[in-house]
Amino acid sequence: MSTRGAFSSKIGFVAAAAGSAVGLGNIWRFPYEAGQHGGGAFLLVYLICIVLIGYPIMSGEITLGRNTRSNPYRAYHKLGNRNWSLVGIWGIICGIMFLSVYNVVAGWAFGYFIEITFGSLLSIKDFDAHFDASIADVSDNIIYSFAFMFITAVIVSRGIQGGIEKASKILMPLLLLLLLGLIFYSLTLPNAMEGIKYYLVPDFSLINIETIYSALGQAFFSLSLGMGALITYGSYISKKDNIVVSAGLVTITDTLVAFLAGLMIFPLVFSIGQSPAAGPGLVFVTLPVIFQQIGPIAGKIIGSGFFLLLCFAALTSTISLLEIPTTFLVDEKKWPRKRIAWISAIIIFIIGLPSMLSQGAVESLTHFLYYEGQSKSVFDFVFDVFSDIGLPLGGLLMVIFIARKWGMKKFDEELSKGNSNYSGSFMSTFLHITIKWIAPVFLAIIFVVTVLQKFFGIHIF
Ligand code: TRP
Repeated sequence: MSTRGAFSSKIGFVAAAAGSAVGLGNIWRFPYEAGQHGGGAFLLVYLICIVLIGYPIMSGEITLGRNTRSNPYRAYHKLGNRNWSLVGIWGIICGIMFLSVYNVVAGWAFGYFIEITFGSLLSIKDFDAHFDASIADVSDNIIYSFAFMFITAVIVSRGIQGGIEKASKILMPLLLLLLLGLIFYSLTLPNAMEGIKYYLVPDFSLINIETIYSALGQAFFSLSLGMGALITYGSYISKKDNIVVSAGLVTITDTLVAFLAGLMIFPLVFSIGQSPAAGPGLVFVTLPVIFQQIGPIAGKIIGSGFFLLLCFAALTSTISLLEIPTTFLVDEKKWPRKRIAWISAIIIFIIGLPSMLSQGAVESLTHFLYYEGQSKSVFDFVFDVFSDIGLPLGGLLMVIFIARKWGMKKFDEELSKGNSNYSGSFMSTFLHITIKWIAPVFLAIIFVVTVLQKFFGIHIF
């Protein structure tokens, strides 16, 4: 392998990993998942998943990456064998499929930015109908999501992390500020407290197995886990860095942004009398109503700023996703980075076309399969298989690999670098218990139950 780069500082790594983590998952997906699965009940289960599963898996991925200084495939190959390297390959496949649909949603966000800024989106009366029509519009979707993939490819092909890293250090705090502003605004609306109650007071009777696997899937989606993205990032960090702390900072940042997004959305939803269970359109339908209420000029500025920042959050995520197959092929095949990035981007864009056309444009793709008691589109199916099921599966195989193949002793040794107090500490005990027992048992049960319930209609619980 040629000389590999490195992050200049701990903050460089934390910023890049947080940039990968904070994205559509936090602002678009988290609120609608919470809204579909019981609000406060979902939030509670989600937080438990983050602490007991998400954080340990993030520490595990970073540790594997730093120890091997390799892409996911090579990392499993080096510390395990050929068979284990299949786990790395599975991660790369998930990354490709995941990006193909993620980019479709990024295209929606980009379209909303353009239409608010340059068009007349805010003069529309029925945002629900507008959202349904716009995701079914073939040409708009192709243009916007192609543009998004194009920008991602330009950045990844140049390998310039510098510019994007600097930009995210300014734009991410800005996104946070805007979120806070919108939270204050939405709290002043009539009925806001209903929303807060729905979001913060768990109704335990709403917790069922679906709440649990949805929250778990959301945790993997949001923290960028299960496909080796953080093995790749971890491979660039210094032995002086404290992984326990860095992983903690990334986890907290990501969870905080998701939490705030919920705090922004639910008061709005209840104040305009919408159902919190509206699904993927939630953010796209509720927010424009508010921008409209704010007034024609201020609303346009705030709305356009919001969707621009959302696009930016999505862009730092699509970059990390395209980086997965790119780094893999640069490392393993030694092909030129520029060519790989462009070819991968084009192929992934094409793979995403059926998902894009499955939102009402093409009937057979929209009603593609029937499971979980409802008709599912290609879009739903790809997210179900490669995100909700595929990512926790990657995580399950990784904890088994660390605990049973690589060994906790080597794991501890790597974590002690940059953290001399690690051995014998509370965190070391915590990671031992979670990685050896809690995560594998929990992930294995949920995996079996989810597959049986989702695809075979067999309900164990
Ligand atoms: N975490 C990102 C989000 O919440 C999505 C993402 C980016 C991702 N890179 C990833 C998910 C790698 C899993 C693996 O929007």
